[in-house]
Amino acid sequence: MHAHELREKFLNFFKDKGHAIIPSASLIPENDPTCLFTTAGMHPLVPYLLGEKHPAGTRLVDFQKCIRTGDIDDVGDQWHFTCFEMLGNWSLGDYWKKEAIEMSYEFLTNVLDIPLDRLAVTVFKGDDDAPFDEESYNTWKSLGMPEDRIYKYNKKENWWGPAGKTGPCGPDSEMFYISDKKACGKDCQPSCSCGKYVEIWNDVFMEYNKVKSQESKVKSQSDKVEYEYVKAKQRNVDTGMGLERTVSVLNDFPDNYHCPHIEPIVAEVNMLRKYKYLGQEGVDNTDIYGKKDDPNYEKEKKSIRVIVDHVRAATFILGDEKGIEPSNVDQGYILRRLIRRAIRHGKQIGIEGVFTHKVAEVVIKIMQDTYPELKKNKDFILKQLTKEEEKFATTLEKGLREFKKMSKDNNISGTEAFDLFSTYGFPYEMTEELAEEKGIKFDKKEFDAEFEKHQALSREGAGQRFKGGLADASEETCKLHTATHLLQAALQKVLGPHALQKGSNITADRLRFDFTHLDKMTDEQKKEVEELVNGWIKDDLEVGCAEMAVDDAKKKGAIGLFEDKYGHVAKVFTIGNVSCEMCGGPHAQKTGELGKFRIKKEESSSAGVRRIKAILE
Ligand code: ALA
Repeated sequence: MHAHELREKFLNFFKDKGHAIIPSASLIPENDPTCLFTTAGMHPLVPYLLGEKHPAGTRLVDFQKCIRTGDIDDVGDQWHFTCFEMLGNWSLGDYWKKEAIEMSYEFLTNVLDIPLDRLAVTVFKGDDDAPFDEESYNTWKSLGMPEDRIYKYNKKENWWGPAGKTGPCGPDSEMFYISDKKACGKDCQPSCSCGKYVEIWNDVFMEYNKVKSQESKVKSQSDKVEYEYVKAKQRNVDTGMGLERTVSVLNDFPDNYHCPHIEPIVAEVNMLRKYKYLGQEGVDNTDIYGKKDDPNYEKEKKSIRVIVDHVRAATFILGDEKGIEPSNVDQGYILRRLIRRAIRHGKQIGIEGVFTHKVAEVVIKIMQDTYPELKKNKDFILKQLTKEEEKFATTLEKGLREFKKMSKDNNISGTEAFDLFSTYGFPYEMTEELAEEKGIKFDKKEFDAEFEKHQALSREGAGQRFKGGLADASEETCKLHTATHLLQAALQKVLGPHALQKGSNITADRLRFDFTHLDKMTDEQKKEVEELVNGWIKDDLEVGCAEMAVDDAKKKGAIGLFEDKYGHVAKVFTIGNVSCEMCGGPHAQKTGELGKFRIKKEESSSAGVRRIKAILE
């Protein structure tokens, strides 16, 4: 079964069970300061999981493009991707565990025809925060799952969420395909990473809300004093099936890269590296990575996988509705690192010249029917890749030579790694990877310290930015966040109270603000807005912040669209008596720091929504 068949079967199965099909959302979460990318199908649905009414109803189904950079180090193995698709069905206060598991079971065994003896499942064992998930256990048993294939695990394995630090979460029940791979030992079980058990689906039962503790009392062993789990007002089901993995196991493929919608990308990489066995008579071409007895086989296999995954991820990020470019902050920074890592691996396997755009072209061709934005943004994707590659190519060679020199003493210090970063544009993980390959010591902590010192880019350190996807908190973005609030206040004054935020996107260079308004703004209106904002900047107003319950914030007159996406408590930022808005921050301390505000562009974003791009000079 191919990817498109699986997508279709999944959507239709749940549609027949009363679910509304909803579209895949953007990869860039709307105004969520805790995550840079959409990491799961549930991510864009958080407001509805917290109780807001979804216009399509209480049963939803979709497929969602996702980026997870937390698994970046695992890319190169059989199953891990940074870019993948997730199939999901949701009950928003509708059906519960029994019905959800029964539907999962029916889909797996009836629609996908997976024999029951190929499946194992897990359920939550129970701990101080929540009890054993008896209902899930009993449901699986009633469906004929033998007890010795219903594994009970603790929170580490069988609890999902929240997506940010707080929010909806709960016990889950995971479904594993038992592959033909030899078990790693007598105790091999779903929690093993040996590859015998492949996780294909996860039913999450969101009956809790993780919130910041009101009082500083120890509520849970795992979270010490800070957080506690409270029963959610609305019980939801959130499920996620990994599309690529499921296609692989259904077809008995040895890895994700053999999927028919991925393998042509591998083939393109083989063409580019002038893979010497390609099409040769008498050569077994069934192994897509090369000849197993070749001494470089394992190394080259990893490089090919990294290139395929990373260029695929870069293509989706560049081609997203929200149009991200490589840069040194936020999503653009991750994009840059993905592209650069792919380039280095390309060099490693002998690809000559600028090549990532050629790989991307294959990705676009395969995926454009499912994700039309890739077709629409094709020129942009290819141009940006070429630009980034040309920029990096000139320094890569020099940087590699420098690395060789530096590592003569079998050690790369943090300062040296930082030098490679700042002079040659080597992302730290590239240096780390190079060091690892050559058995050279590398002190990442020292690099982080150096990075912090020079860049002050993130509170959490360079490594964390890439791994966890924390929002940028550089001085520039803080100022632009504050400018955005001033802009919102000015728009309300000039255009009227209907001019409310629809979306916001901030890089270190500019702000982008979408708001509800029908007509193109006149030059006078734009001028008036600029003058108001610059007047408030001149007044050097204090930026205050208070945490309060969302209801209290609303009573106080605070505006803000995405206020309680992740919890009951909202941060409210006030700027003099000009603005009062719920927001995650970060912000400048006084408006005087901002400089001069200028609108660069005002244009249509979608029907009834206008977009302003503005800068601080
Ligand atoms: N949100 C759940 C996951 O990503 C379904 O596994």
